[in-house]
Amino acid sequence: MKKIVFLTGAGMSVESGFKTFRGSDGLWENYPVEQVASHEGWLANPTLVTNFYNMLRKKLYAAKPNDGHKLVAELEKDFNVCVVTQNVDNLHERAGSTHVIHLHGELAKVCSSYDQFDERYVRELPEDHCEVAVGEKAGDGSLLRPYIVFFGESVPMIAPAAEEASTADIFVIIGTSLNVYPAAGLVRYVPTGCPIYLIDPNPVPNGGLANFHHIRKGASEGMRELVELLRGSKSR
Ligand code: OAD
Repeated sequence: MKKIVFLTGAGMSVESGFKTFRGSDGLWENYPVEQVASHEGWLANPTLVTNFYNMLRKKLYAAKPNDGHKLVAELEKDFNVCVVTQNVDNLHERAGSTHVIHLHGELAKVCSSYDQFDERYVRELPEDHCEVAVGEKAGDGSLLRPYIVFFGESVPMIAPAAEEASTADIFVIIGTSLNVYPAAGLVRYVPTGCPIYLIDPNPVPNGGLANFHHIRKGASEGMRELVELLRGSKSR
């Protein structure tokens, strides 16, 4: 089976009701990104950050995967599919994707603020109990924090993601402005000769990549076109 690696960003979830980052003057769901998604922001005001993610988590549980997410998942019937996402939502998983690498953490989860990668204290909040109380503690006595990689923190999942990219037969980028590193650097690991598709309604600088095809559409419509293209190349 051929291997398809997807790299997805905020644009993937626009049709599920989420906003992009760079389209809204540095605001994330109406909050300045530095306030709610940076290490300094968390230290300065953990209550504000906790409440922000409580709000976002409720929104996530009310949201549904869009056709783009579903078509990515359906490709598992014919391809070995790996999804590398910068998104903290779980819409790929809820659409049925079974191999998802989250570079920037997961909104549905909370963790220790001493060490956010200490798996002993990472837990998923169920839909009917998805809010963290202000001052709530993790098992190690630290303040419970969102399982999110804030700006200024390391991105440990970049190593397995680069490994996946380096063994791709087809690489597909959906809905990311390729502005944030190290995620944006993943395209550089793609093997020479591997076709790279970009699904995004707007222009995205690609740094002169070879074998690059831009499908200038939204995630769902663009995925429909990609599926047709892949079917066509299989029957040839
Ligand atoms: P951006 O907001 O930078 O880029 C979103 C991209 O989605 C843009 O290129 C849009 O043109 C495109 N887009 C808009 N609507 C779309 C649609 N319906 N279908 C497909 N694409 C569409 O978001 P990211 O590149 O994901 O980090 O941002 C990367 C990281 O920066 C995020 O993970 C986040 C952010 O700050 C953290 O949370 C650590």
